Order: sequence, then structure tokens, then C-alpha cells
Amino acid sequence: MPRTKLIAANWKMYKIPDQARDFFQAFVPLVADHTRDEIVVCPPAIDLSAALEAAKGSKVAVGGQNLHWEKEGAYTGEISASMLLAAGCTHVIIGHSERRQYFGETDDTVNLKLKAALEAGLIPIVCVGEVLEEREANLTEDVLRRQCLRAFHAISAKKAAKMVVAYEPVWAIGTGKTATPQLASEAHSLIRGEAAKAFGQPFADAMRILYGGSVKPENAKALMSQEEIDGALVGGASLDPKSFAAIVKY
Ligand code: 13P
Repeated sequence: MPRTKLIAANWKMYKIPDQARDFFQAFVPLVADHTRDEIVVCPPAIDLSAALEAAKGSKVAVGGQNLHWEKEGAYTGEISASMLLAAGCTHVIIGHSERRQYFGETDDTVNLKLKAALEAGLIPIVCVGEVLEEREANLTEDVLRRQCLRAFHAISAKKAAKMVVAYEPVWAIGTGKTATPQLASEAHSLIRGEAAKAFGQPFADAMRILYGGSVKPENAKALMSQEEIDGALVGGASLDPKSFAAIVKY
């Protein structure tokens, strides 16, 4: 069974609600006849209701960029899986390298968040990837293995069914340096191997692995044509409706 690709936008901390509305107004018609791939846009939390309203009736899904693992509680500034779900989100990004780097996200919190998202019925997009020093020290495989092993810990294949993984080499994020399709494919194979160990081969064969890191309209086709690459997680180039549509339609 071929895997349906997922093209995901991660807006990070960009756009106010009015700008989110403007984006959808321009973007939705550009992809209205596009049925080949799934599309999701993950705006900042404050934009979710504007984005969901503007995306209504289209095939563009909306997701969160982060969540807390508890259902509710005294956690100032946090949002739970059930809150994202109630707002109308279908997806959530977990463990982005920027959260690991700047906000103390660890392999263990990624695991807790993954469990919470799956429990709630959200489609988690779990991010893994090595930093430049790790790649240069030949530690990429170890890092990806550890991140997957710990993210997948104590989760059943049945529960994990909807999970998506995104391989985002940190040195390729926002730098204009893209991993070559070959290099990304190798990392994706390794991640698929870890998923096979954790959940079995049929699960791993069906699991989507996205590539993220300086994906642009110009390089999307070369990356997406790789057998191992099942979509993209796009930062900077997803902020502009034309550019994100060009990536979706690579
Ligand atoms: P860029 O596409 O801006 O490199 O960001 C990638 C990313 O971090 C998506 O989550």
C-alpha cells in the first residue's frame, strides 16, 4: 500500500489571527483541487480559531505546535490534547528541535506528550533529528535511535496507529542547507527500522516519515520523489500561501 503523503506547515511564532485568515483565504483556493496529499497547517495557538474558521469546508487540516501531557491542571501557559481537539485540531507537532533546544523538551516529555496526543485521538507529528555536532561526530544514528526508542517507549502499535514521525536535521532548519534526498532517505530508513523494532514491520511499513529542514518549492520534488520520504514539515516556506501551495503540488 503506498503511503499518502502529508505536507505540514509549521508556522512557529509567526502571524497574528488576521494574517492567518489572510493566508487561508489565499491558500485554500490554490489547493482546492489537490487530492493527492494530506495538508495540515500548524499555526501559533492564538491563531487556531481564526485558522479553523478560515479552513472550514476545505481539505486543509489544522494542528497545534505543542501540547501538555496532562488533561488539565495548574500549568500556566500550557494547552492540553483535549483543548486542541475541542478547538477542532486534528494534528499536533511534538518534540520539535526548537522546543528541545529552548524550552527544556526531553525524550521523556516527548514520550508523555505522544501518549497524551494518541490517547486523545490527535495525529502526532513527532520530531527527531541530530544537531550539527552530532552529525560531525558520526553520532546521527545513535541520536535518532535514542530519540525514537524513548519517544515510542511503552506505547502499543494499536495506540500508535496514527503516529507520524518527522526527521528534521537541526543543521538544516532555517539555514537554507537541505539534507540531500539520499542522506534524508538513509535517516528515514533508520527511523523506520526503529519503528519496526517497537511496533512490528507492518506498522513501520505504513508509518509516514516526513522530512523537514529548508524545504522550498525548488527542492520539494527531489525530496518527495524518494520512496522513503512521505511528506514534508515546512517552516519558513509555509508562511507564504503561494510558496506553500507550490510545495504541496511539487
Ligand atoms: P525551515 O523550513 O524554515 O527550515 O523549518 C523547518 C522546521 O523546523 C519545520 O518544523
